[in-house]
Amino acid sequence: MTFREDGALAVDWVASYLERVRELPVLAQVEPGAVRAALPRSPPDEPEPFGAVLRDLDEVLLPGLSHSQSPRWFAYFGITSSEPGVLAELLIAGLNQLGILWRTSPVLQELEELTLDWLAQLLGLPEGLHGHIEDTASTSTLVSLAAARSIRPDARTVLCSEHAHSSVDKAAKLLELDLRKVPADNEFRLRPELLELDGACAVVATIGTTSTTSVDPVPAIADRCAAAGVWLHVDAAYAGTAALCPELRHHFAGWERADSIVVNPHKWLGVPIDCSTLWTRRPDVYRDAFSLVPEYLRVGEEVASLSEYTQVLGRRFRALKLWAVLRCYGRTGLQGRIREHVRLAALFEGWVRADAEWEVVAPRPFSVVCFRLRRLDEENERLLERVNASGDIFVSHTRLRGRYVLRLAIGNFGTTEEDVRFAWEVLRREASRS
Ligand SMILES: Cc1ncc(COP(=O)(O)O)c(C=O)c1O
Repeated sequence: MTFREDGALAVDWVASYLERVRELPVLAQVEPGAVRAALPRSPPDEPEPFGAVLRDLDEVLLPGLSHSQSPRWFAYFGITSSEPGVLAELLIAGLNQLGILWRTSPVLQELEELTLDWLAQLLGLPEGLHGHIEDTASTSTLVSLAAARSIRPDARTVLCSEHAHSSVDKAAKLLELDLRKVPADNEFRLRPELLELDGACAVVATIGTTSTTSVDPVPAIADRCAAAGVWLHVDAAYAGTAALCPELRHHFAGWERADSIVVNPHKWLGVPIDCSTLWTRRPDVYRDAFSLVPEYLRVGEEVASLSEYTQVLGRRFRALKLWAVLRCYGRTGLQGRIREHVRLAALFEGWVRADAEWEVVAPRPFSVVCFRLRRLDEENERLLERVNASGDIFVSHTRLRGRYVLRLAIGNFGTTEEDVRFAWEVLRREASRS
């Protein structure tokens, strides 16, 4: 088989997979260790054809996959590797650009800068921000807090809401900063009047927290940070994409005043994992904190490489997949998907509210509904286990005010009203079995 023939088979495999993924058990129905046990313990001595890899994908690996590409994946956040994103990943691997210096791939660097400008325009961010791509929001937050620390070396505290993502805890731990969790109000938003900024180098405000997608009051937090000269990092990893829709922009009030902002196109924008976009209005702070150019990378041209703004040297050509998705959907195509997800979440929320056996337990600004059966925590927990064990849908949970809560997160580009209706049927079916 030639590369062309194998390539055609691989694309065909993905196309067939995407056609049937809705019918596959969403959560892998295997026991821990089963995948390894089904595979040889040692690597092959002799070369095998690529067809053997595809065969094992079908026969051995498929049952061990949980399908985030399924329109019936409602856990954590809904994500999508859209078709242009899939094809761009193939091109990225084929091109294998070495993103260490502008000269090792002028296109990689300039397309990354351009697509970040494009996305900033789509999200209504101010002109002139410096943007680059990181692998994940965890890295974007880590490097931003490192930048914040570098300009206030004596201030060793980071503040965030009790609902901020655990990546903030991790970054603070790695940077040896003290993390202070600020209590949230009854709608799960940071209470700005409780911010004590003495000795603080940064505040992390979240637009779209992980549990409930609550929105911290960024304008008030920005006022406090500005008055105290403290860095403001806005984590909009999930919800940031919603700023594409003018009717949802009010949730983003004040984010233009942040020192740094992270949005994950690999969450709600149809870009395959990994792609996290980071903007700053203070690129010089990042460059001072991170630029370290060894002799072998010194060159004549006066172009700062993107590696000078972050911790890693080499970068993947991620901009190509972001560019492909922005072009192949366009503003209107992406807005259409986000609006549909928000509509479906509102529909689901309405069904839950209309049923006396269930309750909605948090406001819903975007496309995630937090709800529970009006029964004991243990019954909700067992319900979730049964639902996920059925393989019909995949739903995850959180804990709010000590209570066990289910979350239905809509975000896969293939999810239809029928899928959401099906999810509600499965939940009620399994609830009636307890
Ligand atoms: C608000 C928020 N921030 C950060 C993250 C971490 O994202 P990543 O997996 O890209 O590090 C998440 C993950 O869900 C999140 O919800």
